[in-house]
Amino acid sequence: MRHGRATALPGPEPSERRDWQTLKELLPYLWAYKVRVLIALGCLLAAKGANVSVPIIFKQVIDRLDITRDQAVIVVPAALLLAYGALRFSTSMFTELREIVFVRVTQQAVRRISLQVFEHLHALSLRFHLERQTGGLTRDIERGTRSIGSLISYTLYSILPTLIEIGLVIGILLYNYDAVFALITGTALALYITFTVKVTNWRTALRRQANELDSAANAQAIDSLINFETVKYFNNEAFEARRYDTQLQAWIGAQIRNQNSLAALNTGQALIIAITVTLMMWQASSRVASGEMTLGDIVMVNAFMLQLYIPLNFLGVLYREIRQALTDIERMFGLLHAHREVADAPDARELPAGMMDVRFEAVDFGYDARRQILFGVDIEIPAGRTVAVVGHSGSGKSTLARLLYRFYDVQGGAVKVGGHDIRQLTQASLRAAIGIVPQDTVLFNDSLLYNIQYGRPEASREEVEAAARAAQLTDFIARLPDGYETRVGERGLKLSGGEKQRVAIARALLKNPSILIFDEATSALDSKTEKAIQAQIDQAAEGRTALVIAHRLSTVMKADRIIVLDEGRVVERGTHPELLAAGGAYAQMWTLQQQEEAKDAE
Ligand SMILES: Nc1ncnc2c1ncn2[C@@H]1O[C@H](COP(=O)(O)OP(=O)(O)OP(=O)(O)O)[C@@H](O)[C@H]1O
Ligand SMILES: [Mg+2]
Repeated sequence: MRHGRATALPGPEPSERRDWQTLKELLPYLWAYKVRVLIALGCLLAAKGANVSVPIIFKQVIDRLDITRDQAVIVVPAALLLAYGALRFSTSMFTELREIVFVRVTQQAVRRISLQVFEHLHALSLRFHLERQTGGLTRDIERGTRSIGSLISYTLYSILPTLIEIGLVIGILLYNYDAVFALITGTALALYITFTVKVTNWRTALRRQANELDSAANAQAIDSLINFETVKYFNNEAFEARRYDTQLQAWIGAQIRNQNSLAALNTGQALIIAITVTLMMWQASSRVASGEMTLGDIVMVNAFMLQLYIPLNFLGVLYREIRQALTDIERMFGLLHAHREVADAPDARELPAGMMDVRFEAVDFGYDARRQILFGVDIEIPAGRTVAVVGHSGSGKSTLARLLYRFYDVQGGAVKVGGHDIRQLTQASLRAAIGIVPQDTVLFNDSLLYNIQYGRPEASREEVEAAARAAQLTDFIARLPDGYETRVGERGLKLSGGEKQRVAIARALLKNPSILIFDEATSALDSKTEKAIQAQIDQAAEGRTALVIAHRLSTVMKADRIIVLDEGRVVERGTHPELLAAGGAYAQMWTLQQQEEAKDAE
């Protein structure tokens, strides 16, 4: 995988150069199946060889039939006729063979690229994903992979064979006849291709214009119909019809220009072909007259011309489709080039297993350079202890959890686990050691079982059930008709907030990590369930290093140490009794919450 490349998509370079780069990047994926590619190319050559041999054999047959030659008996050897038939058949056979051999290469390339993009997307930072629409991403991947298939089929099955055939024909002409034939063919083809590409570029703009006008007319009609009542209120039916008609007329204009341009393209192509064929026939017939060439030769040259120009008819469409496919593929590759903000250091180490402490040392951090969120935060969680962080909404509590997970890197200071700066550890080993019950739980659109087991996919059914029991889920699951197989809906929307939170707790417990983070893990629960779960959380935190983020202070009273965070700064720290005695921010919050609870109880 690539890292450290520029984030932005390629800049305003000439687009043709970009197309070449995209192609260059695609080639290694195909070349990974060298043998198949070579066999397929062999088949391609064989098919084209057979194809250009047909007119040659045909020439032989004609020459044998030529009664002006002083042969007593006209004999066309059966071998020649058989060869003619066999060659015609081989053209198709080799084409099909090539397809059979190559289809695997295409599909494997698509698979490998899709997988690589997918893995890369998971390796990118949270920031990247927050800034991009997931729908847009998947559309880019889908279009990109689909385009690989079409690009390969257009180039390999149309463009490349045609080029090979052109080469072969020019070679044969050069070898057998006067250079003037090869010269005419070569010049005409160059002219034909340039003409087609230029006109197609122009037509693409026209087509886009026609499509835009079509959408505009449609949008206008829809808007008018949505405002049905308003139109009636103001008696404006005729006005609306006139407006719609103006749009339609503009569209007709564009449509006609589009159609005319197609006619221009076809006519131009036909003219080039006609002139070429005429020139060729003129040259050939004068040589037949002078005895330099036979009748068979003239038939052969004519057949070559027809054979060459038929595939060229589709050149305009092919060119457009290939450009489109290249653009789509380039966009997908652009995702691969998106820079990994958080990457493993080259000498990153594995975090050893076992109990470990967690320290935030003078951490400065902001999601955006223009707005700092944490200011010199110092927090120490000794191995096996529980530290609670409390504070107002937006003070940066969840940010601490994201930093510990290394979703972002700190701008100042360091986050250390077991004495190691987490930037020196592999992300995989760091994250394996941490379990989290996040503030907002999102679930996979699958069964409850799947979602709980996600904490440790290899866990046994018994272990899953034990975790569910610890998270007070058993009663709830027992009441479901489908039990563990109940589907939770998109993002887990079919579960209540509290149920989701308990699934998240079960899944974190199942992971059995040495560091646990609870980010408002019980905020969505009623106080009875909260108490029951709190006991389980306390038990789970026992013997682990735990960071508990809480809003309700009553849930963190028992923590070994409580940190009060205010606008990104630690303003107080101590045990619950110490902080109460200090009479500061914590004591104030505590009194306030006690009053509220008393009021609720009334
Ligand atoms: N991805 C992000 N990009 C930019 N700013 C963010 C991002 N995530 C959070 N913030 C900002 O960082 C600040 C701290 O957010 P954080 O989630 O840590 O707060 P919190 O203390 O957990 O609050 P709450 O109690 O409401 O959960 C907030 O002001 C928030 O707007
Ligand atoms: Mg939060």
